[in-house]
Amino acid sequence: MDKIKWFTDSRFGMFIHWGIYAIPAKGEWSFAHEPWKENEYQDFSKVFDPQDFDPRKLARLASAAGMKYVVFTTRHHDGFCMFDSHFTDYKVTNSPYGKDIVREVVEAFRAEGMKIGFYHSLPDWTHPGYADPESPEYIQRKELHTPTLEEYSAFKELLFNHLQQLMTEYGKVDLLFLDYTSKYKDGTDYFDRDRILEMVYRHQPEIIVNDRLAFSKENVRDFDYYTPEICVMNQPPVVKGREVAWESCTTMNNNWGYCAGDNNYKDAHSLISALIGCVSRSGNMLLNVGPDANGSIGETAESRLKEMAEWFKLHSEAVTGCGSSQYTPPFGCAYTAKENKIYCYLLITPVGDVILPQLKGKIESIKLMRTGENIRIIDFWGFELLRADEERIRPTGAKAGDVLEITLKK
Ligand code: GLC
Repeated sequence: MDKIKWFTDSRFGMFIHWGIYAIPAKGEWSFAHEPWKENEYQDFSKVFDPQDFDPRKLARLASAAGMKYVVFTTRHHDGFCMFDSHFTDYKVTNSPYGKDIVREVVEAFRAEGMKIGFYHSLPDWTHPGYADPESPEYIQRKELHTPTLEEYSAFKELLFNHLQQLMTEYGKVDLLFLDYTSKYKDGTDYFDRDRILEMVYRHQPEIIVNDRLAFSKENVRDFDYYTPEICVMNQPPVVKGREVAWESCTTMNNNWGYCAGDNNYKDAHSLISALIGCVSRSGNMLLNVGPDANGSIGETAESRLKEMAEWFKLHSEAVTGCGSSQYTPPFGCAYTAKENKIYCYLLITPVGDVILPQLKGKIESIKLMRTGENIRIIDFWGFELLRADEERIRPTGAKAGDVLEITLKK
């Protein structure tokens, strides 16, 4: 059984960062970065009541945009549980909203036929058993307490119990995104990695788990997939000499969790280009939305998803099931590929003709996907200037964001 196949075929997913940090609206690290008074931050849980949250609508937007899975923050570093935890009162079901948001998300996205992924924070800044220079106490007051053995055991037990609950009470979970092992814990198995993984795979034998339980370069374990963030890798990461499955999670603006005033949204062409960039290097993109305190992702994020949906309607074949090509793309283009097809994505509008390296005599036909039009191979007077293996084509009318579907001779 190749349990990673659905993931590497999907290529595109939705990340959702959401918790009570949406209320102060300064991103998901605001608990660490702002000088809160005692319990001031935790008390946002008493007013959390996102009446505009419409998970079905969000799932439909995601699916139309070409996303095949969702990864939802069940708990972030602030420790607040977006599910009905049996082990803490600091949870969404005790907020005025009262409902298990994780369950709502699972049901809505499953109904759209999407796969289900849980993000869960390894650190818990509210737990006495967790101490780290990247925690609020140190960032705010330069203090770092030393947990007692009992506190540390209780911290690990809570993490284990939460994950066990998530693995057993929400049906099939397809993916687990654990975040993260601080660099200050390098070399330390702070979270009891193997105990967690044994339990997770026991309950969910087909689940795939990311790499952020890795705690030292020397002690790499084979994780199911690897998670760089906010970048497009030039090549798939190599772990123990082998290229691995990877996914780059990316923000649509400059924040994961809702941040009022962050309107630095990337344009739809750049987002689609980044997706193609990942696929052309055999990777996935996990694009984030951060709902606000009312549960809305905002007009800009919604319109970006709709623009991506417009593009995806005509170009799904260039993404889903695709990976890298063995051929080198021409200037201004990126290639994705499957079987005998190359999908030539135009990062820029061509100045005129496009010269394809390495494809001389190999092309059966070329189609502009947006219009279905055939693209001609050109016998140009300047042909002698081309290298012997180059083919010159004339994609008249093609513009940035278009895809040329190149069918190779079999
Ligand atoms: C980093 C951030 C975290 C975010 C994550 C997403 O680890 O600290 O807030 O959730 O990236 O990959």
